[in-house]
Amino acid sequence: MKLIDTVRQLRRELKPHRARTVGFVPTMGYLHEGHLSLVKRAKAECDVVVMSIFVNPLQFGPNEDFDRYPRDLERDAALAREAGVDVLFHPSVREMYPEPMLTRVEVSEITDRLCGVSRPGHFAGVATVVTKLFNIVQPDRAYFGLKDAQQVAVIQKMVRDLHIPVEIVPCETVREPDGLAMSSRNVYLSPEEREKARILSRSLFEARDGWSSGELDTPEEMTEFVRKRISSVPDADIDYVETWSWPDLKPLGTLHDGKFIVAVAVRFGKTRLIDNLLFDAKEER
Ligand code: PAF
Repeated sequence: MKLIDTVRQLRRELKPHRARTVGFVPTMGYLHEGHLSLVKRAKAECDVVVMSIFVNPLQFGPNEDFDRYPRDLERDAALAREAGVDVLFHPSVREMYPEPMLTRVEVSEITDRLCGVSRPGHFAGVATVVTKLFNIVQPDRAYFGLKDAQQVAVIQKMVRDLHIPVEIVPCETVREPDGLAMSSRNVYLSPEEREKARILSRSLFEARDGWSSGELDTPEEMTEFVRKRISSVPDADIDYVETWSWPDLKPLGTLHDGKFIVAVAVRFGKTRLIDNLLFDAKEER
């Protein structure tokens, strides 16, 4: 595995591979099984796998966790090598943003809800850095985890709107044995918070059961059910529980046709966790 930290070196490294299929796994590091599952899928489908590790300041708000976001390049490099990453791109902030940026990539409407409300500017930061990374790596396919479902929807729309020649491959959320969605931010949780955080996936799975059995029949019932279950856990501070059509994130009249998402964001102490389930009324019910 090659470890590269400049754009110029990366372009030189990838030049001989341009006729081959390049798979790309963009990350902010502190790798877990979720990231490694993206690499596994990329390896199965591509000739060369590039991973980036870059904690992107542009997507963090002023009071968010940019400074304390967990970082461990040595550990990440060992995990990436073991997983079969061919090129690990780890640029500095200076390398990615050598001069003040006067350009932003913004996707409207679908960023006006869910995390877009509580994290203003977040998705413009994500869309901008992902566009930069796509221009640097020029992958054929890019792999994103569905735990960040809104991010996937935003990037898919951006790629279509701007004719960016990259196939976006959304990949299933990877969960701990008790259901908690894997996230680099899980390390912030105290043992008590970690225990309480199980309610996120549990409430979503119960909602899915309620929907399958016909007990929960409207978007409002789904949302209310999940909200009540989460509120029953002390110290679970709900940011949002919402049900929208998927992937365009529009209001839903019914849960009887098409795809939809039930998404949650909840704070436990200083840690904000997100999770979601995607439903397909045609296939699953
Ligand atoms: O999902 C993430 O880790 C980040 O938002 C991404 C896509 C690497 C952009 O910084």
